[in-house]
Amino acid sequence: MNVELKTLAAAAAARHKCDLLAVLVPDEVPAGEDPLSSLAARARDQQDLEKKPGSVLQVYAPEGVAARRVALVACGDGSARSVRKAVLALAAGLRHPAVQRVALVFMAPPADGAVRAAVCAADEAAYVYTATKGKAKAPAKGAKGADPGAGAPSSPDALVLGVPEAAAVRAEFDAARGLAEGIAFAREWANRPANHATPTMLGEAARELAGAPGIECTVRGPAEVAKLGMGAFLAVARGSEEPLRFIELRYCGAGKSDAPVVLVGKGITFDTGGISLKPAAEMDEMKFDMGGAASVLGVFRALAELRPAINVVGLIPACENMPDGRALKPGDVVTSMSGQTIEVLNTDAEGRLVLCDALTYAERFKPSAIIDIATLTGACVVALGGVRSGLFASDDALAAALERAGEQAQDPCWRMPLDDEYGEGLKSPFADVANVGGRPAGAVTAAKFLQRFVGETPWAHLDIAGSAWKGGAAKGATGRPVGLLVSYLLGAAAAPAAARKGSARARAAKG
Ligand code: BES
Ligand code: MN
Ligand code: ZN
Repeated sequence: MNVELKTLAAAAAARHKCDLLAVLVPDEVPAGEDPLSSLAARARDQQDLEKKPGSVLQVYAPEGVAARRVALVACGDGSARSVRKAVLALAAGLRHPAVQRVALVFMAPPADGAVRAAVCAADEAAYVYTATKGKAKAPAKGAKGADPGAGAPSSPDALVLGVPEAAAVRAEFDAARGLAEGIAFAREWANRPANHATPTMLGEAARELAGAPGIECTVRGPAEVAKLGMGAFLAVARGSEEPLRFIELRYCGAGKSDAPVVLVGKGITFDTGGISLKPAAEMDEMKFDMGGAASVLGVFRALAELRPAINVVGLIPACENMPDGRALKPGDVVTSMSGQTIEVLNTDAEGRLVLCDALTYAERFKPSAIIDIATLTGACVVALGGVRSGLFASDDALAAALERAGEQAQDPCWRMPLDDEYGEGLKSPFADVANVGGRPAGAVTAAKFLQRFVGETPWAHLDIAGSAWKGGAAKGATGRPVGLLVSYLLGAAAAPAAARKGSARARAAKG
């Protein structure tokens, strides 16, 4: 969606012509003689607009206001969190087929982070999936004689974000737009059905991202991956007709000697479970099993816009997990790139098999940190639901930075334990390690498995099985945790480069 920042005080907002004028009304309604201020004050006085963030009062063509419809929406204390709630509450209005031009107006000067929250939430609320919808359309928007209320929901063409003083929030606004593009990119790719988002197509999407300055990309196929010795990744891909892709994206925004952050995204474009086949119910949702990969692509989309002074590498092992005559079987032993052999007791625990080889590969960049992102376990959904992603980390400073980034971006995570005792169930009589432990603490044993494949580098694992998409009637990808990751990376860019190099050197000396 096309978003523009404008100085629009309440009086000017009242004169602004659009289909929907959404006004963010704080607890304390700012005093004013203009029509919008009086409308908001009256609505509040008459108790027609509650204070609870997200409460909405819609008004049709009120006096003295140029917009066809006005939505007063309560934004509580005006914090980023409350503004996000308020804007998300406008979703139905934003997607109304008769709404093309929208203005979203802050009555009061926005609090820290509120502009970012507004831009990202508006983009999210206005999103309508169209990629694989048929072309047959209801009468065009605004067509003569068309029932303006009929027709499928659609995103508005343009949104004006109005604030009392644009110059004061210009930088935050520009950064927010870059972030929103990244989130949207991840959401869009994650939503695409598996036959429209094959490993090959993900590789092409990555190559296109590499058109931007500072971004390079290498896409490898089965032969090259075999040469690298990625026996675990290859084994998962064996059951599918779709050739695997190992995608490597490199963003260089700092000096060559600056240690990069490596992001590793699970790219299972469809997870049937393999020979350990999943039940049919809701299996369609396993098209979202490349949500980690999508988030890595989304981060690079945002990096292309934001161009921070850091280096980032993105790695995506992408393949399908299918049952077939050549597929991996329970009990098979495979040799990972690290040399460790793995007994595959359950072919449905495939994410860790593709990730472990990518984690081994990640070490060659001598990174300052490795972060993997994966829709890894149903157990994480049971533990945390869709509110917080599961965070596992070998390094307290990295964990704290990611927790902070999540809070800041309103894309929160929750740290989980990594005691060695949790790894004991992974013992195998036939290999160095088994790919599953028992049922208890399934999200933790999965993380313990991954931890065997990282060395001294600070490492974190985000289990996004619950947060990457929503099920039910509102089924769809969320674009998480792009917000968390970008926020973390921008924080790393703000840290002095000397500190980053220093810590990398200290570790090199130690190891
Ligand atoms: N992609 C799934 C994890 C998943 C399940 C994500 C449900 C979101 C919702 C993963 O590959 C998987 O199948 N994991 C198994 C592991 C088990 C076999 C140890 C699981 O969680 O059931
Ligand atoms: Mn699986
Ligand atoms: Zn999976």
